[in-house]
Amino acid sequence: MSTRDFNEHSITDAVVERFADTPDPRLRQIMQALVRHAHQFVREVELTQDEWLVAIEYLTRVGQICSDKRQEFILLSDTLGISMLVDAINHRMPAGATETTVLGPFYVQNPPIKPSDADISGGESGTPLYVTATVNGPDGTPLPGAVVDVWQSDDDGYYDVQKPGEDPNLRARFIADENGKVSFWTIVPKYYPIPADGPVGDMLAATRRHPYRPAHIHFMIGHEGYEKLVTHLFIEGDPYLDSDAVFGVKQSLIVTLVEGQGTPPAASGKPQAGQWMRLDHAFGLKPAA
Ligand code: BEZ
Ligand code: FE
Repeated sequence: MSTRDFNEHSITDAVVERFADTPDPRLRQIMQALVRHAHQFVREVELTQDEWLVAIEYLTRVGQICSDKRQEFILLSDTLGISMLVDAINHRMPAGATETTVLGPFYVQNPPIKPSDADISGGESGTPLYVTATVNGPDGTPLPGAVVDVWQSDDDGYYDVQKPGEDPNLRARFIADENGKVSFWTIVPKYYPIPADGPVGDMLAATRRHPYRPAHIHFMIGHEGYEKLVTHLFIEGDPYLDSDAVFGVKQSLIVTLVEGQGTPPAASGKPQAGQWMRLDHAFGLKPAA
């Protein structure tokens, strides 16, 4: 192959060929496919030099806003649907296993361990919600000892980690009992915007996209011998279920809250009067390969 005088077509094969000696076959496959697709993209839109400079400045800004508290590249991947595409390819679930969705930026390692029926709302205002969840294998066998991490935003749409000086709030770890069950009090979650004050927000605004995610509660569930499940439960009736900014909604993850009847199950500090809701859900874990 000629090594000079490339034109707008022949340059692609030349660059692909330059990666031919990559020892790791997977890295070789990825680099060569990346070059082919990126070149084809440039040809398809006939990118101008000014536009390429705008793109480079944009990605520079995405990098510059990243910190130990903010990962704008993941947010960009989320809003371009790439996170959910990678998730879909890597989580082809068998019957009986709960579908997965994005992790999001607000998970905190090792959340406070709470006992059954604990109230995780930390006094936040909102409609009380009593959640019971069972963790099973795909055939419905309960998985005692499963580790269930939950986290959600408050009634104003903020996670504790977005509020300076806040103690861990609306997040906890529960250990499933002998029936594979955990239970806790929280508040009904509400829709909220993803962080939109940076380059990702600029992209959404320029393309007339809104930044909202429909109301949800995050779950991360682990048990030896099973794949870790990262998912949410979305609340039926939310106005953003069909336009989630990060494409994370799956029909099987939408749940209907029912109005609680009678005396609410006990929990220290929970008001024992007034309206409350309940959510009962069974999760299925996929056996590890
Ligand atoms: C979240 O649900 O916490 C989230 C997910 C993706 C991007 C931003 C937020
Ligand atoms: Fe969230």
